[in-house]
Amino acid sequence: MKKYLMILMLALLPALTAGAAPVNGKMSADVDPHDKESLQRGAKAFANYCMACHQAELMRYSRVAQDLGLSSEDVEEFLIFTPGTQVVDVMRNAMDSEDSLDWFGAPAPDLTMTARRHGPDWVYTFLNGFYKDENQQFGVNNLVISGVSMPHVLQELQGLPEAIREDVDGQQRMVGLELNEAGMMSPAEYRRFTRDITNFMDYIAEPVKAERQRLGVYVIGFLLILLVLTYLLKKEFWRDVH
Ligand code: HEC
Repeated sequence: MKKYLMILMLALLPALTAGAAPVNGKMSADVDPHDKESLQRGAKAFANYCMACHQAELMRYSRVAQDLGLSSEDVEEFLIFTPGTQVVDVMRNAMDSEDSLDWFGAPAPDLTMTARRHGPDWVYTFLNGFYKDENQQFGVNNLVISGVSMPHVLQELQGLPEAIREDVDGQQRMVGLELNEAGMMSPAEYRRFTRDITNFMDYIAEPVKAERQRLGVYVIGFLLILLVLTYLLKKEFWRDVH
């Protein structure tokens, strides 16, 4: 009986701790390139909260507009904040990477390919992995990039999680994060918000993904029909042999 209880508790554990980024391991962003509304929200959040420092130089606004079903006016109103930038331009900002180096001690890297390089779950966990750390330059650290040089730019939305430390074998170890004071969003809203950004970053890393998946379904359907036809043909050919 005890054993079953133990198994049940282990099975329930992820449900109980859901929401907080795990100290080891990743959260699942469950990205969906067909979810246009999520991508639109993500694009807006990315432009508002990330492009002050980061760029996505391999992506054009016009392509984003076309793929996500936005008009040029939408793009100008919601996505472009750098004077002189037009819809046909790449997603570049006004910040010099030299400035970023001076201000943050690290250049803010181009984010076009980040979700491809590290995987979307890595990005999602990173955005959910900031926690208070007085020893750091901006008072925050991150579970994914230890000693991170990026400030927690979404702190007013999320609040600032704190590390839970426990004594493990005589050593202080971090065992989880807890949010004592929420920001403007509830934890669920913040997860949705960061998932939208992750979804958008996954899209810019491979804009043809949705198309590729759609095409894949047709190709497999076509192959299945071909399979049936060739089978029938084979039967027809061999009918007189036996
Ligand atoms: C105030 C400037 C600033 C803003 C705004 C900002 N970042 Fe950053 N970001 C940085 C800096 C600086 C780094 C480099 C951190 C390091 O290497 O320690 C970074 C690193 C990252 C990385 C790690 C990339 C890699 O390949 O190592 C990701 C992912 C990232 N930022 C995503 C975002 C997202 C998403 C947003 C918007 C919600 C955002 N950043 C907003 C400054 C910023």
